[in-house]
Amino acid sequence: MIKGGKGRLIDMAEVQEHNSPEKGVWVVIQGQVYDITSFINKHPGGDRIILKNAGKDVTDIYVPVHPSDAIAENLDPSQHLGQVDPSTVKEEAESEKDLSQRELKRRKALKNLPPIGTILNLDDFQRVAQTILTDQAWAYYSSAADDEITKHFNRSAYSRIWFKPRILRPVMEVDCSTELMGHDVSLPIYISPAAMAKLGHPDGEANLTKAAGEAQIVQGISANASVSLDETIANRKSDQALIYQLYVNKDRSASEKILAKIQKQPKGAFAAIMLTVDAPVMGNRESDMRAKGEEVQTGGDTEGGSSEGKGVGVAISGYIDPNIGWDIVSWYKQHCKLPLILKGVQTVDDVELAFKNGCQGVVLSNHGGRSLEYSRAPIDVLIELHQKRPDLLQKIDVLIDGGVRRGTDVLKALALGAKGVGLGRPFLYAQSGYGQEGASRAIQIMKDEIERGMRLLGITSLKQLTPEMIEILPPSFDPYLLHRQEERRREYVFEHEAATEE
Ligand code: HEM
Ligand SMILES: Cc1cc2nc3c(=O)[nH]c(=O)nc-3n(C[C@H](O)[C@H](O)[C@H](O)COP(=O)(O)O)c2cc1C
Repeated sequence: MIKGGKGRLIDMAEVQEHNSPEKGVWVVIQGQVYDITSFINKHPGGDRIILKNAGKDVTDIYVPVHPSDAIAENLDPSQHLGQVDPSTVKEEAESEKDLSQRELKRRKALKNLPPIGTILNLDDFQRVAQTILTDQAWAYYSSAADDEITKHFNRSAYSRIWFKPRILRPVMEVDCSTELMGHDVSLPIYISPAAMAKLGHPDGEANLTKAAGEAQIVQGISANASVSLDETIANRKSDQALIYQLYVNKDRSASEKILAKIQKQPKGAFAAIMLTVDAPVMGNRESDMRAKGEEVQTGGDTEGGSSEGKGVGVAISGYIDPNIGWDIVSWYKQHCKLPLILKGVQTVDDVELAFKNGCQGVVLSNHGGRSLEYSRAPIDVLIELHQKRPDLLQKIDVLIDGGVRRGTDVLKALALGAKGVGLGRPFLYAQSGYGQEGASRAIQIMKDEIERGMRLLGITSLKQLTPEMIEILPPSFDPYLLHRQEERRREYVFEHEAATEE
């Protein structure tokens, strides 16, 4: 099937002829022609999407969802056939008539981004993101399990904690720097590892790496990042600390290879490994599935299940081993010397087990409400930990993420003993549209809010935050409040859409 040598110029018409498994499946990616016939059945994103696009230039679909080393890691060099002859490619001038009203509106909103100075808080980034992201990207970022109750409750659970500020204390100078996994950081927040930042912006995770480096905060690198590890290392400042997030692969040697690669990086590049344990199978994220507009096969969440039509989340997670137990910690220790943080711990008992098994940290997290619907809000788990086993907060580093949107949320978690607070979606939204500038502004907004909160609380250093400075109201669940939040968000989107109409 492969004719001619690598580097030969290939007529686009020849590519187009290779549009089925029988005739061979060729695609063009960034001007290069690949024969992926033998790869179709191994493709982590499923065979359907490839068959639908066989014989075409797939650059626009391919680039946002693949790390730049995906081809080198998965294809044999012989599958690179050569370069497409540019003189044979018909520029498909995109006719506005071919675009849906929705897509036209989206593009207009992207061109008319509100000036970044009008973005006052993290919710503003989300509102803008909803107007500028493709349906697929918005669904992937915003979706959560089942009815998305957990996602909303993660956030509103913070509202049962109130402050008891002290007065008449000099607060001109405040210092919100701290230490996270042995590294000095300027703020107690970090970027939670979240996949596929390129769905929101062409530079993807690079925006976050650069912004985190400038601000001296830690970035969690998702196992499913759309920027390759090598590029991330290249984007990192020489003294910048990252955390690598790992899912244990059914093929253990693949995970071992990644751990070996992480440990070969410059000393200090990785502060720790975050092993995510709250998603042995993917949560049921229906908006993510709907955005694909394809029929979904039911059944078989694990071995042998089909990922057809199930959305980005399921497509990229098929390799995760659902069959791991606590002995995974000793497996890890055999292969990696970096501190281990278990991400997705949701009970006091499991914090204790993490400590007893020799983990250095835990992240209290329910995956931003994307895994088990009705899993408790992480801040509620922290409250329970603080009340029942405050000793554990001294023995193991407790981090937390999920629903954190304000500087005051961060101060509440720290007052209860958390060492660091992660934010996931806000950074994905902030870099969509605004790129690195958006990520930097999101960090600055959090810094301003944390510093202002500290001053108003009457403290000048994070060490002065104590449980005595907060009051915890009894748990309550107010579906009406959740509903109002959703409505307010939608109202804004309609306003913004109206504003971008001519
Ligand atoms: C050229 C060879 C290809 C390789 C080596 C490859 C590799 C991969 C890998 C490794 C993933 C998982 C992403 C991750 O873990 O971060 C993935 C997902 C995905 N791939 Fe590919 N891929 C190839 C071609 C294509 C083509 C031609 C298309 C579409 C025309 C495509 C569309 C997708 C999509 C959309 C996903 C995300 C999951 C989804 O939405 O279903 N891929 N691919
Ligand atoms: C779009 C998206 C992708 C994510 N990808 C990952 C991932 O690859 N690995 C992981 O451990 N957690 C992942 N998470 C979960 C985040 O690390 C984090 O726990 C969650 O986003 C925190 O909630 P928040 O979005 O309310 O801040 C993802 C979250 C989102 C929203």
